[in-house]
Amino acid sequence: MDDDQQRELAQFFTPRIVAEHMAAQAKIPDQGKFRILDPGAGSGSLIAAIVGRVLQEKVDVSVALTAVEIAPYLHAPLRGTVEDCVDVARRFGVDITFTLVEADFVDWACCQAQQEEELASEDRSYDLVIQNPPYRRISALSPVREQLRRFDIDVPNLYAAFMMLGSSMLADGGQLLSITPRSFANGTHYRDFRRKFTRSMGLERISVFDDRQSLFADLAVLQENVILSAIKGSRPEKVSISVSGGVDGPVRERIVYYSEVIRQGDPELFVHVPVSGLSDRAATVIDGLPCRLSDLGVSVSTGRVVDFRVRDALRFEFDGDAEALIYPGNLQGGRVVWPMQGTRKPQQIVSGPTTAKLLMPAECYVLVKRFSPKEARRRLMASVFQSGDIPGAVVGFENHLNVFHSSGAGLQGSLAAGLSVWINSSILESYFRRFSGHTQVNVADLKNIRYPSFERLTLIGAQVDLDDWPGQGDIDRLVERFLGIKAP
Ligand SMILES: C[S@@+](CC[C@H](N)C(=O)[O-])C[C@H]1O[C@@H](n2cnc3c(N)ncnc32)[C@H](O)[C@@H]1O
Repeated sequence: MDDDQQRELAQFFTPRIVAEHMAAQAKIPDQGKFRILDPGAGSGSLIAAIVGRVLQEKVDVSVALTAVEIAPYLHAPLRGTVEDCVDVARRFGVDITFTLVEADFVDWACCQAQQEEELASEDRSYDLVIQNPPYRRISALSPVREQLRRFDIDVPNLYAAFMMLGSSMLADGGQLLSITPRSFANGTHYRDFRRKFTRSMGLERISVFDDRQSLFADLAVLQENVILSAIKGSRPEKVSISVSGGVDGPVRERIVYYSEVIRQGDPELFVHVPVSGLSDRAATVIDGLPCRLSDLGVSVSTGRVVDFRVRDALRFEFDGDAEALIYPGNLQGGRVVWPMQGTRKPQQIVSGPTTAKLLMPAECYVLVKRFSPKEARRRLMASVFQSGDIPGAVVGFENHLNVFHSSGAGLQGSLAAGLSVWINSSILESYFRRFSGHTQVNVADLKNIRYPSFERLTLIGAQVDLDDWPGQGDIDRLVERFLGIKAP
């Protein structure tokens, strides 16, 4: 296919083995009609897999398939797949009817919803919605976003719209099986999605993969994916979590309470994927910690300097009149090294009418990298910035950093050190990875984590020599000694 078109419509087709993995999770009725919807059906891999599963089960059902696909050139291959399915099914005595909806799923589903309101019709509901929807951002001002808002759906990515619309078309007790990026699990942009989706859908199984690249091996799909099975109108007591080492690797499965996945009292409704018992223990202890960040009088924001917006003010060569500018690269082993030698990033910014407000007083802050390399051992990487790290009275923090501060000014040194130990601890890292599947650390993630008390943090901070930052083992020992939490 044409690369641009493929990207535009997010046409990354599900490999057979993943499709079979999904189909294996479908709840197939013993008899009667089995109504299946595949929104964004592509060439029909998911349909073929689910029909295969029905035939293997030797159940007494007739299958009513509905596929929605926008791309005209995929309609023939899709029909071809379904015709093959119908032929094979006939030999097994299974009757299949097929409806191909040659349309935009969002338009179609919204239109159905409108008619539904008018007709209160039953026959448009499905027993199974199985989908690998398109993954594409929807900008805040786009017509699609506007169209969705009319149905009370406000989501930043098309895949989440497909999940919401798909779930709305299910019969009570119907199942949604989807493979999507994991980004809906945390972050503020998906808060509304999580609230609405989990109100009507009970999560019953979450599958993740250790090796994120192997899922779509032939394509550049690098997001961490998750297969979700959810049941309409139910609230299972327990959720099955499965972790596969690649698509055909061994599968580890564990059953956890629903409250391990969506923690009680979490206003953000983060979806945790607790892959190990150790991370459950971490979660229990961390959820029991006394403070939110605001209780400590601390705020966290992204660094104010967006470098490409103030290009003229940046300095690559040392300029005695310019101020220090800190990038993630300046964070080295728990400390801030400035200026960095051998970096291509400008190390200074000139304070002027447009840039002065981007600078902060050169006091004590905790800096956390917003991005980490995909395969990095840690996602949470914090360093303490101290006034003595630079010569001037003000400093610029670049936008790829999260900055912990107190109303725009610095923190008490021992509090900053304690916070930095806590953020760098192994226990918090394992907690973080339960709800975050991407390489980004958002302000909302850092706000939603619980923190030890001010007294404990300053006590821990007082043990640390900021000029000789402790290694991982020492950090974990401090957390164990002062908080009683053992590293996983
Ligand atoms: C990620 S692919 C998956 C295809 C298929 N479900 C599979 O698993 O192989 C997403 C599919 O959705 C289709 N698509 C993209 N936007 C769509 C829309 N608005 N309505 C319907 N289909 C759409 C694409 O053409 C593509 O075939």
